[in-house]
Amino acid sequence: MGESTFEIDFEPIGKRVDVAPGTNLLEAARQAGIGLASVCGGEGTCGRCRVTIMSGEVSAPVDADRRFLSQLELTSGQRLACRCQVHSDVKVQVPKASLVTDQRLQVSGVARQMQIEAAVHAYEIEAPEPTLHDLRSDLDRIIDALETMHGRRKWFAEPAVVRTLSALARRTGWRLTVYARHNEIVGFEAPGRKPIGFAADLGTTKIAGYLVDLETGEELAASGIMNPQIGYGEDVISRMVHATRHDDGSAELARVVREGLNNLIIALAFQAGVSQEQIVEACIVGNTAMTHLLLDLPVHQLSVSPFVAATSTALDVKARDLQLEMAAGAYVHVLPCVGGFVGADHVAMILGSDLDRKPYVAVGVDIGTNTEIALLKPNEKTLTSASCASGPAFEGAHIRDGMRASTGAIEAVKITATGVQIKTIDNAPPVGVCGSGIVDAIAEMYRSGVINNRGRINREAPGVRKNEKGYEFILAPAEISGTGRDIVITQADVNEIQLAKGAIASGLETLMAATGTAPEEIQEVIVAGAFGSYLNLDSALAIGLLPRLPNAKYVQVGNAAGVGAKMALLSLKERRRAQQIMQRTGYIELTTQPDFNSRFAMSMLFPKQS
Ligand code: FES
Repeated sequence: MGESTFEIDFEPIGKRVDVAPGTNLLEAARQAGIGLASVCGGEGTCGRCRVTIMSGEVSAPVDADRRFLSQLELTSGQRLACRCQVHSDVKVQVPKASLVTDQRLQVSGVARQMQIEAAVHAYEIEAPEPTLHDLRSDLDRIIDALETMHGRRKWFAEPAVVRTLSALARRTGWRLTVYARHNEIVGFEAPGRKPIGFAADLGTTKIAGYLVDLETGEELAASGIMNPQIGYGEDVISRMVHATRHDDGSAELARVVREGLNNLIIALAFQAGVSQEQIVEACIVGNTAMTHLLLDLPVHQLSVSPFVAATSTALDVKARDLQLEMAAGAYVHVLPCVGGFVGADHVAMILGSDLDRKPYVAVGVDIGTNTEIALLKPNEKTLTSASCASGPAFEGAHIRDGMRASTGAIEAVKITATGVQIKTIDNAPPVGVCGSGIVDAIAEMYRSGVINNRGRINREAPGVRKNEKGYEFILAPAEISGTGRDIVITQADVNEIQLAKGAIASGLETLMAATGTAPEEIQEVIVAGAFGSYLNLDSALAIGLLPRLPNAKYVQVGNAAGVGAKMALLSLKERRRAQQIMQRTGYIELTTQPDFNSRFAMSMLFPKQS
């Protein structure tokens, strides 16, 4: 900092600039070359230049701040940059929504691939304030303004939404953003506030959430949390058992996951610099048990044979009925599911990967604790799905030194004549091995003869030693590990991976047999899921996790279910497409298929080396 200047640090951009005392933050941003949105040019009338003060002394809030920001937002440090002078070094957080975006960026990603047709739109209105000669109610006044400025439509609002109107309208001088889903008003906000949508992929282990601009399709924030229901069991069965065996079990599990979603919404809104009242629509996908538990639907019938859902159609429910803290009248759209084992997340995966639109025979594999597979036969206009119990081994569970994909996890392995080479996440000292590392390690152990095609560890191979239960192979010795002990792959670990990969490979083979599909017909294999995107495909083929199909290209698409959820959030057309996917998707219960057990046993072996 110079003698008579203050240093302003703009985060998360990481730009710093020295400015004279009393400079306002919009000016400081300009000097730093940051494109802060300022539609009114710094007059304090557009409300677009919102920032959050993280530390330092600034001027007190003025009327313009109070017009656009609630008391809670002011208390949490939010300010209009153009109305805020600096009195010391200041650290500022600039939300994505306050940045001027490059037009090309705005239409990239999801927005480029689809037309936006959001369920909720924002309407800017200005209404005259009440006088002794104009005694219309607050809501009538707003509806009259809507009709004059945006056309007649039988506008209406529920009491829960009206409740938020009166104080806000007086604070903003009767200039408002009205959010409406066709003719139903779902929320009010200060003028200039864009409609925001929340999409979530509700997984058994993790919840991924996104905030999206409903007008441009731009993703404003993304984050993930662990599913807090994990305290009631790691898998869906134990959670369903809890829900059915305890009096309030179902309500308790619903409450816990709703709290988790609210925490995610709060964190995302902060990250994006938007208010929770701006979040006017949500789209949630998840496996059938997860969506049932969120909606507090009965799950007993889902947990016992023949495992049927209470409902499989798409649902629109009020966010407030799920205690989700969004706009007062916002809806949550839950995508349809195919059946007990093939949930809305699978439908979203098909949507997000465009599997249903391929012009040739193609397969989508979403690898997780349960792996769902869909096979498309475009000529027969059918999609057929199956679910395999692949278990959590690829997430590092039930593996001696297994761990999730985080710092220090071994993610890639090579065995050469000189020994074992490893690569860890963030290049940190190895502390364990994550899913992609385990698949790599097993593939390399097989290629170099440490294990045979039955998965038996060769006691003579270099790097192999005996432990109390059998043999194990040293991936990283104690001298280089971050834990001070050897990191190993045991015989039990190899067997665990054989079970997991056998479940997936035999699931796909059985699906092919049941649909009369020859291996050479399949032209594309889409590998989805967080684990699937880090997987080394050569290793997956080498151990037979995926079959070698002569005419197929293999494509990794990341979290396609999350992409599908965002697409359905942004477009009513995509919701209709999801409904069609659900209607045309058949389900095959693998265990009832002839030869499934023998296929499973054969799939546990490692394939011939090519
Ligand atoms: Fe318009 Fe600050 S630039 S309110």
